[in-house]
Order: sequence, then C-alpha cells, then structure tokens
Amino acid sequence: MGFEEMWRALLPVGRDADTGGYHRFAWTPPELECRAWFADEARRRGLALEHDRNGNMIAWWRPEEGEGEPRVDRGHRAVLTGSHLDSVPGGGAFDGPLGIVSAFAAVDLLRERGATPRRPIGIAAFAEEEGARFGVACLGSRLLAGAIDPARARGLTDGDGRTFAEVLHGAGLDPDAIGPDEELLGRVGCYVELHVEQGRALREPVGVASSIVPHGRWRLEFAGEGNHAGTTALADRRDPMIPFAGMVLAARDAAERNGTVATVGKVRVVPGGVNAIASSVTAWLDARGPADDAVRRTVAEVGAAAREAARPHRVAVELAEESYTEIVDFNLALRDRVAGALGGAPVLPTGAGHDAGVLSARLPTAMLFVRNPTGVSHAPAEHAETADCLAGVEALAAVLDDLARG
Ligand code: GLV
Ligand code: MN
Ligand code: MN
Repeated sequence: MGFEEMWRALLPVGRDADTGGYHRFAWTPPELECRAWFADEARRRGLALEHDRNGNMIAWWRPEEGEGEPRVDRGHRAVLTGSHLDSVPGGGAFDGPLGIVSAFAAVDLLRERGATPRRPIGIAAFAEEEGARFGVACLGSRLLAGAIDPARARGLTDGDGRTFAEVLHGAGLDPDAIGPDEELLGRVGCYVELHVEQGRALREPVGVASSIVPHGRWRLEFAGEGNHAGTTALADRRDPMIPFAGMVLAARDAAERNGTVATVGKVRVVPGGVNAIASSVTAWLDARGPADDAVRRTVAEVGAAAREAARPHRVAVELAEESYTEIVDFNLALRDRVAGALGGAPVLPTGAGHDAGVLSARLPTAMLFVRNPTGVSHAPAEHAETADCLAGVEALAAVLDDLARG
C-alpha cells in the first residue's frame, strides 16, 4: 500500500464532520482505531510489533528475519523513526500521522530498492504526544526516557476524572510497570522523526530541525464563590472570571515584553451556568520562547498579574507547572549526517514540541520537516501538498538507508 492509499485510509478516523478537525485522544476509540491501523500495516509487511511498557508501539523491520541472508549485525543498534497518532482537540490530519505513514512508505521504498540495512529499523507510534487527554505532552516518550516520575504519571487524570493508571489498565497494560525502559533504549542507536512543519519558515519541500525552543504548560486555578447572577450585588461577589480575564490579557503583554509567545487555549469554568457566578476557573497557559529565562519571566509575570487581579475580588490563585522542556539542540553530528544524506537541506528551529525533543536527552535524535504552505497547525486547515509528502518519504528513505548501513 503506497503513501497515498495509507493516508486515505487514516483520513476519516476521528474526523469531526462539521469542522474537519481531528479528535484522536490517547486510548479513546478513534486513537485505538489508529493503533489498529498501525498494527495492520505492520502485519501486512511482516514487521514484528512490539508494545512497550509505556503504551508506545514499535513495528520492527529486522532484515535477518525471513528476508534471505542474515545481514543484521546484532551489535548494531537500531534506527528508530516514527511519530504519534494522537491529536490535539480539533487538530489537523498531518501532525503526527504524517511521520508514521511516511515511515511505512519509506521502509517499502527501501525494500523495493533492495536496500540491505545492517541495523534494525523501527517505526514508533508514541503515546499521548499532544498531552490532550492527560495534560503532559509526550507522555509516552517521557516515561520511556525517564523524564517523568511514573507515580506522577499514574495519577494524572483526564477531563472525566479517569486516571492514567486506570486507562492503561483498561488498555491491557500494567500501570505499575511504566517508567524508564533502559532495555528498549539500549537497543536504539538514534531516532529520526519526520513531521509536518508547523510554521511558515520552510520554503523547500523538506528541511532538517536544528532545535526546539524551551516550552512548557502551567495550570492556574482561580477559586471564588458560586452565587446567583441576578441577586448578588457586585460588591458581594468573589467572581474568579474577572482575574482570569485579566490573566489572559497579562499573558499577551508579558509575551510581548519578553519576546516569547504565551497562549491560554483551554479553560474550565465551574459550574458553567449562564446565570451563575462561577465558583472556580481553571486555565492552562502555554508559554514558549527563545531562552529559558525569557519563558520563566513570562510565566512569573503572568502569575503576578493574576494574583494582583484576584486580590480586589477576594479570589485565590494557584499556579502549577504541568510540564517543561528546556531548549533542545539536536545532535549536531546526526543533524549533519541527515542533511548530508539529503544532499543539503535547509536547517531550521521550531517552536513545537516533539518526542524527538524528549528522547534527545537519552539518544541522538534528529527531525525532518515537510513544508506547510500556510503554516497553520493544530487546526483543521493544517496541510502539506502530496508532492511534498512524497519528497518527505524519499528523504526519510535516504536517511534511514544511510543510518542503517553502518
Ligand atoms: C505539540 O505539538 C506542541 O508543540 O505542543
Ligand atoms: Mn502537535
Ligand atoms: Mn506532533
């Protein structure tokens, strides 16, 4: 099955018919359907399917298995590629799945061309990359790499109050077994993730990542007092919505002052009645910027502004960090080798987080980007032209071929 056929097969899964946006949250039915698709594609190619302890899946091409001459030197660590199948709420089709579909297509190309890799090639589907269900981005790769405390991960809850541990258990995994997986990491020599570019910086079909900017997520809780919208005098109110609104505006100002970006894209209002003053508001702040100190300053300023806005309304404010990723400079030698295998390609930084960024603390990792003509991402209009996607497959095949040779 070629790239376009695989792409078409995935397109309807989890797509909202009204908005065209995708809702593929980890271990919900649409994401499970994507996982089943992944398993089918592995099976169809005779790739060995591995379910790791942390909810990640890997399809292994080990050329010594059933393909004539044993070629893999067992001392050689694998080349891992892949991406993720989950989406943000109302996300685009490309963020994540493009890297996985391209990986299967690249392995097909290598096989058609009679490539003789000396290393196993694995195609990974990392779990909960977007953190759309449990709040922590790249949860599967963080657990694998030891970048999150397993006990904390077990206790993360989704919007319905279900814990990550319960959901894992329901999916047939042992929640007590999650955490750093040295055995799996020890089998992998490097990870190369292909991804749709998420801005407009890439003018050519394919580019190579240089770095990921520091980024993180914070949760702000505003606790006030629920009351009647018609009978409560203004002076008697403890309305958490007012400091919340002040905080949103402060985030924009702080970002402008510090040369960062700050976004409040998710808010939960309790109880959420038109004719009721809210008792509490929970808001999530996403902040990113070129340097750690600028991001930290942005968040500190937002927190201070929220507290100041809350005081006259007798609202309590709490600010908690949910995740933070320091700057990632991708491994220079691998990046040069990847760019070299492509005969030179533009090299660019990104403001988006990726499993490749998390894994870079444990392995050499690199990323290929496929041009995004409008730069829109995390939205239904996210797009890449088919010709560019096919150029991405060729590029990934060239990189895998090169890396798996020696
Ligand atoms: C993931 O795509 C992120 O950058 O948040
Ligand atoms: Mn994303
Ligand atoms: Mn992604």
